[in-house]
Amino acid sequence: MTACIVGWSHGKFGKLDGETSESLVVKAATEAIAHAGIEPRDVDVIYVGNMNGGFVRQEFHSSLALQAHPDLRFKPSTRVENACATGSAAIHMGLNTLAAGKARFVLVVGVEKMTELNSAQAGEVLIKASYVAEEANIEAGFAGIFGKITSAYFQRYGDKSDALARIAVKAHKNGSKNPYAHFQKEFAYEFCRTPSDKNPFVAGPLKRTDCSPVTDGAAAVVLADVQTALGLKHAIAFRATEHVNDFLPMSKRDIIKFEGPQLAWKRALASAKLDLLDLSFVESHDCFTSAELIEYEAMGLTAPGEGERAILEGWVERDGKLPVNVSGGLKAKGHPVGATGVSMHVMSAMQLSGSAPAGMQLPKAKIGGVFNMGGAAVANYVSILEPLR
Ligand code: COA
Repeated sequence: MTACIVGWSHGKFGKLDGETSESLVVKAATEAIAHAGIEPRDVDVIYVGNMNGGFVRQEFHSSLALQAHPDLRFKPSTRVENACATGSAAIHMGLNTLAAGKARFVLVVGVEKMTELNSAQAGEVLIKASYVAEEANIEAGFAGIFGKITSAYFQRYGDKSDALARIAVKAHKNGSKNPYAHFQKEFAYEFCRTPSDKNPFVAGPLKRTDCSPVTDGAAAVVLADVQTALGLKHAIAFRATEHVNDFLPMSKRDIIKFEGPQLAWKRALASAKLDLLDLSFVESHDCFTSAELIEYEAMGLTAPGEGERAILEGWVERDGKLPVNVSGGLKAKGHPVGATGVSMHVMSAMQLSGSAPAGMQLPKAKIGGVFNMGGAAVANYVSILEPLR
């Protein structure tokens, strides 16, 4: 255990007309510093997670965090990018900085303003997170990549559309209890299961309700070393962290095995000296419902090809043996790519400190797992979190 989250903030996710990535960064940074109970001058180092790639014209984001307070001027700040795992990548940079003894307090902000583009244009940006030389011509943007993965999974293990619809229903049910979520309404099983004008196929077997939305949002955390955290009000410790990158081309991998996520989970649990079911909950990267299905297998909850059991038998519901995405996940909470990894850590910190919104708070949240993924199982980050005291 080397570091803690000592403060956090989370804005409302959604289509945030009137906000800019700058206004989102400033608000998230200001609120996280205040929540940590420190002064802006105490922040030693800043990381801003932002994928961008053309979502907004302002590409250079690091110093936008300095706009939060004059005392942040001249602090070292760096923008971090690792596709949809950008938020966790920024947190890892913060943890490395603390481990190197280069800071006492690190501010990490994750942000994305995606909705200035329509869905098709956003898809053009997101597909840049594939192996462009081989995969960028696929239709429907990044949904096309996961459409292909889902088709391959169905070919090997049979049609799992029932399970995917159940995952969507669970996400929206949980999201309806999360005031920060993009979508805060429940979706009926028949609606998610049946293609319709309101729920058309987007890519391969994936319908609209199988996809995370195009979302704006920001979240932030303040990190500190354990010694420092002991003197502060909030302290959620990293019991383990892992980062595993796999080859980028899908042609070099058995893509439905999610071997990178598997290894990240295996190493993180081993280093935390825990079994998966010791966790009280997991926030997992459900950019598409089929991603969550395969992640059940990668985290070791079921054998390969049997992920559907976890959802059909209720294991991953909020009252199941391992609740997954009680926040609503990317599917309902939204997936502002640069913010997502930070958001997952904030949602977990809220659960573990007993301060999650009513209806979302789990009764016994002792240890939480976070899995954030960039690309198609390419950049894989696992964190295992628990209260310091
Ligand atoms: N799930 C459920 N409902 C959704 C939705 C989603 N993902 N996206 C949009 N909707 C709803 C909207 O709220 C709207 O509802 P309304 O008619 O009641 O107002 C309706 O569907 C139409 O919205 P629109 O934005 O026009 O839909 P779209 O067809 O242009 O976009 C997707 C839908 C799924 C194509 C788009 O959200 C998308 O591209 N998602 C994937 C993003 C992605 O790849 N992220 C990176 C993953 S690694």
